[in-house]
Amino acid sequence: MKSEELFKKKFYQWLPEDRRNFFEQEGIELNEIDSKTLERLNRLSENVIGQVRLPLGVIPNLIVNKRKYIVPMAVEEPSVVAAANHASKIFNQNGGVEAVSIRNGIYGQIVLEVTNDFDINSFTRQFPELINQANQKFASLVKHGGGVCKIEASQKDNLVFLRILVDPAEAMGANKTNAILEFLGNKLEKQANIEQNLYAILSNYPTQLTTAKVNLNVDSVGGFKVAEKLVLLSKIGRNDIYRAVTNNKGIMNGVDSVLIATGNDYRGVEAATAVWANKSGNYTSLSKWKIEEDKLIGELTVPLAIGVVGGSISAREDIKQSFNLLGQVSAKQLAEIIAATGLANNFSALLAISTKGIQAGHMKLQARNLVATLNANEEEKEEVLKKLQQSKKYTQEAALEFLSEIRKDKK
Ligand code: MEV
Repeated sequence: MKSEELFKKKFYQWLPEDRRNFFEQEGIELNEIDSKTLERLNRLSENVIGQVRLPLGVIPNLIVNKRKYIVPMAVEEPSVVAAANHASKIFNQNGGVEAVSIRNGIYGQIVLEVTNDFDINSFTRQFPELINQANQKFASLVKHGGGVCKIEASQKDNLVFLRILVDPAEAMGANKTNAILEFLGNKLEKQANIEQNLYAILSNYPTQLTTAKVNLNVDSVGGFKVAEKLVLLSKIGRNDIYRAVTNNKGIMNGVDSVLIATGNDYRGVEAATAVWANKSGNYTSLSKWKIEEDKLIGELTVPLAIGVVGGSISAREDIKQSFNLLGQVSAKQLAEIIAATGLANNFSALLAISTKGIQAGHMKLQARNLVATLNANEEEKEEVLKKLQQSKKYTQEAALEFLSEIRKDKK
């Protein structure tokens, strides 16, 4: 398109090729992308000019509630997938993970400004009828097993806070919940004694709580001493915020990787998880490890407002691939798999810290990233990788030094 015509339009209305041309003319180098992919991605998001890709790794076998799953993990950090895999082997030897997800719904909020003569008691009497009306209007959600479950209200001065619990069925449910809230908010605003509907939007407050639990023979984790150290580390994480946040980061390594691989909203889960970890007023670790007789018992609870349909899940081929790996799963089962993966990552991190430290395994894997940046052929890269791992020197300088040694030897 000619530039005068183009500049009459808003940037988001431009074709993605026009956006790319514009940046390239500005001297910004962009990655190649085929036009079909670009067009497809442009329909998924806004102001699209390209894509960022992540490797998809797997846990080839994680037993959750006695069923074997292939778990997809989208993450660029090799140690995250390696850690989950290491734990899965130990978990599976001990019968796998037991998990329960309570799919109780997600909250929405409507805040109304009311007049001085507003009476909250008579107002709340209409809630059963409001629930009926919403469920009639959003009949397709009800047909899929969901719908509005509950409305509660509280008043502070001239503001009335409505808390609406919506069961999103198999979806994460953000769009549907927001549509229901706006429908209800607009209805309520017309009533006498209500000045205005201030806002109507879902709340990411923790719900859909999912608990994963393992019961491990202490011998399978390296013996009693190791188990005791792991428990002590876990205890520290319950009281020390510096350790708690890192412990939880390890958990989110697993949780986010599966969320991303399955097209779920990891931002919402991250926000809810931070509140959940702080629910007592003291930020604490999400997991808990203890010893009972000869068993090391680990437990993790995370709020997982996730889905297996809706949003961009069905529109993305890469996400379909993840669901092909998982097999037929319900939202409840997927939440249980995600919590189990979080617990797996947490276990491996605690195990590494309480034994050989985290860096040994981590850097061994990071060596691949170092090698990938070398200006060398595949054979040379392979040799440099071996030398880095043998020498346990994991720096860019060492990689360059090994490369020049290899080249000298070959002359
Ligand atoms: C690194 O990505 C995650 C860990 O720091 C988690 C932890 O310390 O528990 C290893």
